[in-house]
Amino acid sequence: MIKSIKNLDITNKKVIIRCDFNVPVENKSIIDDTRIEAALPTIKYALDKNAKVILMSHMGRIKEEEDKKNNSLECVAKSLSDKLNKNVIFINETRGKKLEEACKNIKEGEIVLMENTRFEDLNNKKESTLDDELAKYWASLGEVFIDDAFGTAHRENTSNCGIAKYLPSGIGLLMEKEINTLNELNSAEKPFTIILGGKKVSDKIGIIKNLVKRADYILIGGGMAFTFLKAEGFNVGSSIVDNDSLDFCKSIMNKYQDKIIIPVDFRVTKEFKNTGNYKIKDITEFELDDIGMDIGERSITNFNKIIRKSKTIFWNGPLGVYEFSYFRKSSEEVLKNIVKNKKKAILGGGDIVACSSLLGLKDDIYYASTGGGASLEYLEGKELPAIKVLR
Ligand code: 3PG
Repeated sequence: MIKSIKNLDITNKKVIIRCDFNVPVENKSIIDDTRIEAALPTIKYALDKNAKVILMSHMGRIKEEEDKKNNSLECVAKSLSDKLNKNVIFINETRGKKLEEACKNIKEGEIVLMENTRFEDLNNKKESTLDDELAKYWASLGEVFIDDAFGTAHRENTSNCGIAKYLPSGIGLLMEKEINTLNELNSAEKPFTIILGGKKVSDKIGIIKNLVKRADYILIGGGMAFTFLKAEGFNVGSSIVDNDSLDFCKSIMNKYQDKIIIPVDFRVTKEFKNTGNYKIKDITEFELDDIGMDIGERSITNFNKIIRKSKTIFWNGPLGVYEFSYFRKSSEEVLKNIVKNKKKAILGGGDIVACSSLLGLKDDIYYASTGGGASLEYLEGKELPAIKVLR
């Protein structure tokens, strides 16, 4: 049985909460604070219980000293302070005297945030390879461990799986909500539609295999559509193709022709850039130097017809290069259609959540998961290591 924070005695105790504060940052400012907002209920719950709150998280990937500059959690401490209207003591180290003193002296109702756990990756990848010495050390700073980092639950790291072995442990309110909401898809009301976009088919093979029987439709957009189209024999010009996945696309299309819906037209350019100088072309009209940047009007209409008759939707990955204003139209139209028709839709983390947030539509969606890779692996049917360790 996995314990929830609500079933653990945390009153007046030092509670280590592993969050996923892996948020996009540019010039030291946070571009999208969805994950920080999502962590607040657990932090507030612990504060209400008069706990001494010790927060930790990773950010980015730390391969060399230089990477530390753009991946400090100091901006997260500031954002948390503003949101909670409370001082957050930021400790700019992952081990050492300062951290130990701060955790020793922390009082009820106070919050300490330590530096990015992946700074320890410069020390023989100690965070990312589940290091026992580091796990014991971090565990020694607290009395109870709460894992609320759903976005990282597919990673077997020291700061989630490691610490859990050494302290009474459980999941936080966000992790609980994520699991419960994704579990709703096990009995999804039909028609059940899955929308998949993004670049690589290989990242989505697991979910397609696991859900193709249960789903009524799988709509394919984004860069990955070109691998399906190439597998079907179309000339996709200079669009992105995941050649290693061609055989998979061909066989799944053959088997489930009526379920897997691919685009028929695209917004194309000659250069990969944000430009109003694009053409809408049918897939049969592609020239060798054409790059597909977004799906076209007829494809949007086809997708939206299916959305209107669907009862449940899971969506991972935008349908076009949403970072470019000229190529987010399809994602915008389909999101608006979901909102307008009040469809039960779950957005599977990462780019599609960022896209819905950019368009001001996120709060109108049934659920936006904080886990991209984690939600995909969960729906592939895998037991995520950070959840397994708490069982
Ligand atoms: C994510 O953003 O998906 C999680 O924070 C995990 O990050 P990672 O892919 O760098 O391990």
